[in-house]
Amino acid sequence: MARFRRCRADGATLSADTDSKERFRRASSDRRPDPLCKKYCPPYAARMDTPHRPRLLDLFCGQGGAGWGYHLAGFDVTGVDIRPMPLHPPQMTFVHGDAIEYLKAHGHEYDAVHASPPCRAYTSARHSAPRRYRHPDLVGPVRRALRATGRPYVIENVPGAPLEDPVLLCGAMFGLLTYRHRLLEASWDLAARVPVHPVHEARTARMGRPAGEGEFHSFVGNFSGLQTAREVMQMPWASQDGIRQAVPPAYTRLAGAALLEFLSASGWETRCA
Ligand SMILES: C[S@@+](CC[C@H](N)C(=O)[O-])C[C@H]1O[C@@H](n2cnc3c(N)ncnc32)[C@H](O)[C@@H]1O
Repeated sequence: MARFRRCRADGATLSADTDSKERFRRASSDRRPDPLCKKYCPPYAARMDTPHRPRLLDLFCGQGGAGWGYHLAGFDVTGVDIRPMPLHPPQMTFVHGDAIEYLKAHGHEYDAVHASPPCRAYTSARHSAPRRYRHPDLVGPVRRALRATGRPYVIENVPGAPLEDPVLLCGAMFGLLTYRHRLLEASWDLAARVPVHPVHEARTARMGRPAGEGEFHSFVGNFSGLQTAREVMQMPWASQDGIRQAVPPAYTRLAGAALLEFLSASGWETRCA
């Protein structure tokens, strides 16, 4: 479909928005092993060679924080974003276009869908700067479009967003040095898989400031310390903007593992064979 531009891991059909340096980086990356996988997913490494990996559509993908967690869990991930995303990891496919339009046209081609609609409509920033943060509330329209596909889905957003029976994930559940609370609404029983929420024992650094001794990080606004942020969030490829908006891949790796079990229990492997 002409409205959507695909950008595959093999670099064959890169978006026209991708500059030449980025084309080179992607072309070169094909010849390298996958260092991100080796570093962050040893328990799932075997799944990388599975010929039939289930396909997951990652809507509003940004630089691929959420998508990367599903990739690590064993999915073949396609991300969609309205903005070009040259830093989206080349191990996943990127489509440049409108998320809801793409979902309506292609959602049925995937085994499951994740959506992270923009959260500014629900953050406290909407009160302090209403003009700048005037954003559409997309959760309702996204949920309707997801349900119409009949596929299992996850909607992710910030606390305060109008999600239905969401689970709360916290960085401390995964040993990350950031609390970064996020809600996940799932169309199947994800709650059973959510770890206990640890007591927050560390203080969080003040907004935008580097964390002091014993403090947890807060990667919001114009934060400093990009390298630290990449390590803490486990997104070594991402820019400041990508990290600011991202779901830590650890969260969606958990959701992805639960989703694989759900798909398996509902006969996905049989359909695939
Ligand atoms: C909260 S960020 C997503 C972060 C991402 N899930 C991650 O974990 O890295 C929301 C993204 O939605 C994108 N976006 C906003 N409106 C969109 C639309 N109509 N269609 C597709 N993407 C859209 C923005 O460009 C932004 O990258």
